[in-house]
Amino acid sequence: MTEQKTVLSGMRSTGKIHLGNYFGALKNWIDLQDGYRCYYFAADWHALTTDYADPSQTAANTLEMVTDWLAAGLDPARSTIFIQSMVPDHAELHLLMSMITPLGWLERVPTYKEQIQQIENKDLHTYGFLGYPVLQTVDIAVYRAHFVPVGEDQASHLEISREIVRRFNYLYQREIFPEPRALFTPAAKVPGIDGRKMSKSYGNAINLSDSPDEIRKKCMQMFTDPQRIKRSDPGRPEVCNLYDFHKLVSTPEVQERVACDCRAATIGCVDDKKLLAQTLIDYLEPMRRRREELLRDRDTIYDILLEGSKKARERTAETMEQVRGAMGLDYRKALALAEKV
Ligand code: TRP
Repeated sequence: MTEQKTVLSGMRSTGKIHLGNYFGALKNWIDLQDGYRCYYFAADWHALTTDYADPSQTAANTLEMVTDWLAAGLDPARSTIFIQSMVPDHAELHLLMSMITPLGWLERVPTYKEQIQQIENKDLHTYGFLGYPVLQTVDIAVYRAHFVPVGEDQASHLEISREIVRRFNYLYQREIFPEPRALFTPAAKVPGIDGRKMSKSYGNAINLSDSPDEIRKKCMQMFTDPQRIKRSDPGRPEVCNLYDFHKLVSTPEVQERVACDCRAATIGCVDDKKLLAQTLIDYLEPMRRRREELLRDRDTIYDILLEGSKKARERTAETMEQVRGAMGLDYRKALALAEKV
């Protein structure tokens, strides 16, 4: 049997997971658990690249996010789940990789240029923020991962990751690191309740941990076809945000029926909102139960992370040994060589 390929991915510690995060990434992570050796981690150091001036929420955000991962179905028996800062080898390799990364490559990354311009309330002219893609490269490389399931927004980061590891392998004439390939999640459209893309910063999100009442309330606020004013007006599912959600959580039969009834004006938007709310509530029910169970004994969450980071460190230790050798930092070997002359 050939060795199982390695999958790795991370998310910045942003707190509660919403349906956009779930359908955009987390669901894919969960589905990959059976076919690959998987590593999934909370990028708390990456969160600090932008939130360094006020780190008061970082730890709580990390734990909330990880709790949602576990509730949604990331399984510590099949995947290695951990926190970046609990595996210090990421930091050592980051330092070493920073030696070989040309500044021009970092300055050219589109997300860097955009964020420096757009984020006005934080000073991002720091060494750490410029190095964000180096740290991300290291997160992948330190596990010698082959595949990285991410959203399309990460394409430019994956591209520079491939360039950096290629440069490492070339400079030191070893194939320590595979060139990582992105596994893009097919872009699912997940609108927020106001119709814009679902995002924590827009305040338009439905979280995996929302209560049934909150879900009902949010569904009632959702935007529908703006041309459907009276109940007797025929609707257009293709422009309706509710219908985007049906495509994600309803059976094909229900999707078909809703589309027909909406076009024929035999159901109104309010009926449809009630139907969607109940479908979402049922969809999230198993996660709600698992979360309750986890929160009843929070030590289990900590134990999972401790165990995960221990398993992660076993893998990174192997990599670091090879890297130190490649970069001339193997002092046992150097002493043995000195003895011979
Ligand atoms: N930059 C990624 C994001 O914003 C998070 C991340 C950090 C990551 N390190 C990674 C993703 C390594 C994949 C692999 O979502």
